[in-house]
Amino acid sequence: MIVVVGAGIAGLSAALAAAGDERLGQEGLRLEGRAALADGAKRHPQEVLLVCKDEFVESNTYHAQGGVASAIFDDDDPALHAADTMAAGHGLCDRTAVDILTDEGARRVRELIDDGWRVDRDEQGHVLRGLEAAHCRSRVVHAGGDATGKVLELDVSAMVKANPNITVLEHAFLNDVVVRDGHVAGVRLSVRDAKGGVRPRVVTAERVILATGGAGRLYPYTTNPSVATGDGLAAALRAGAQVADLEFYQFHPTAMAIGEHFLVSEAVRGEGAVLLDEHGHRFMTDIDPKAELAPRDVVARANFRTMQAQGGKPVMLDVSPMAKENPDLAEFLRHRFPTIDAYTRELGFDWSKEPIPVAPAAHYWMGGIRTDLFGRSSIPGLYAAGECARTGVQGANRLASNSLLEGMVYGYRAGLAAASDRADATWRPQDFDNSEIPGLPVCQKPMTIHTTAARDAMVRPWDRTHIENTMWRHVGVIRTGESLATAVAELGAGLAAANAEYHDGTSAAEYAQAVTEWENRNLLTVGYAAAIAANNRCESRGAHTRQDYPTHNPTIAHSIAYVMA
Ligand code: SIN
Repeated sequence: MIVVVGAGIAGLSAALAAAGDERLGQEGLRLEGRAALADGAKRHPQEVLLVCKDEFVESNTYHAQGGVASAIFDDDDPALHAADTMAAGHGLCDRTAVDILTDEGARRVRELIDDGWRVDRDEQGHVLRGLEAAHCRSRVVHAGGDATGKVLELDVSAMVKANPNITVLEHAFLNDVVVRDGHVAGVRLSVRDAKGGVRPRVVTAERVILATGGAGRLYPYTTNPSVATGDGLAAALRAGAQVADLEFYQFHPTAMAIGEHFLVSEAVRGEGAVLLDEHGHRFMTDIDPKAELAPRDVVARANFRTMQAQGGKPVMLDVSPMAKENPDLAEFLRHRFPTIDAYTRELGFDWSKEPIPVAPAAHYWMGGIRTDLFGRSSIPGLYAAGECARTGVQGANRLASNSLLEGMVYGYRAGLAAASDRADATWRPQDFDNSEIPGLPVCQKPMTIHTTAARDAMVRPWDRTHIENTMWRHVGVIRTGESLATAVAELGAGLAAANAEYHDGTSAAEYAQAVTEWENRNLLTVGYAAAIAANNRCESRGAHTRQDYPTHNPTIAHSIAYVMA
């Protein structure tokens, strides 16, 4: 039995690959491909349990708007896509991992389209594509206009439902990964019972794939849904797995500044929208030659600083330049961006006639569980894929619309490996050859994180607002050594209180209430680890910006950490 936790595109891809879905062959594997899977191991369909904390399809994937970047068009090449990915990653991408992403990614996207993924097409049936920031080609495949994730999730989850080897378990919270004698032995879950109560359940499994997504709920302003609370990353940390590059958290430049901080896709800027300050000045042209289509970290920082300079007032996103090519702008927006169009109108804006207020919001975590090219973690039997993993493709700053692609490619690889690895298979972490100065180590010496501090009786258990505000103030878009040291001390005390209060059994009466407490503990665990990593990285690079170390230091490599038992 293989347990997959999480049902975004990484979890769905892993489940299909492990369960032996015939549509996904090994033929597409490149580079170390087949040879890196257990030599000669006979792969056969495995029984898969797919565990979801909420309803089956609720995930970050479901809410993704922009699309899936892939070099499937005639004027493009995976090598060009790889070059853009490497450039956005500011020297911390792994070349091999990126080549796999763009090359196998194009195959996966073609396969899914052939299998019926309902992407947007023109009247002649050609697949449509959009442009997003820091891409040298229009290569972002979309569906449902700006509802790419929803269409993808529904189409691929239908394949999962149709697979007799996969059982879906909804409303089941991952409390911990069970490790025995240094090898994964299963998972401890809490399952919602028919009355909304909590039923503990231990599932025995020699392979567990974590595909639990990100942790945008660390912050008060986020594009992520409520399920994004870092549960898999926290469980992996508690189990002793190595994690990497947790200091790199991506803030999306344009979430609605009011309401629920709904994402206004980068694809909107790709179609020509511009950013204005409070005086109506287009400030991005002063900052980067690519203006609004500069890499995401550049635009997020510019928006943040502009907001600071104007007393916190949001910047404005103006779509009127699109009218040149789309004279009926209202109709164009309704058709191309139906979700954003409906949402902005619900908030009382007619964006075809007036700019809308936007601000940066937490969006995507580049760091995560350190894996090899097949999702294997440092604990035998534990695999990770998607946002909770650090495969080496996102570096210090993820390129737009590469995340669904990563989930497809590396979820699939993790599923194949989990199905075919022998018990003695060991991970082979990538040999990152991206050192900017020859001879430098590729990773910093691993940091040990201590999460067993004694509880200070004066510290009450933290609620979500306390966590969010601490992270935003001290581990936000722009950091300082002082703010990060404060975060480490405060989050450490909050985590000690949460650990002391921790119960995963029946003492919490209601599933929903218990889940909130467990999520808060997980957020404190991963937030604390992120603050330590950010405090240790004394430079500014990609999404990690420090006022006290404003320049890039090429001698600093990847950060690796694990929790000391
Ligand atoms: C967006 O639509 O702007 C988000 C796409 C992404 O995060 O890659």
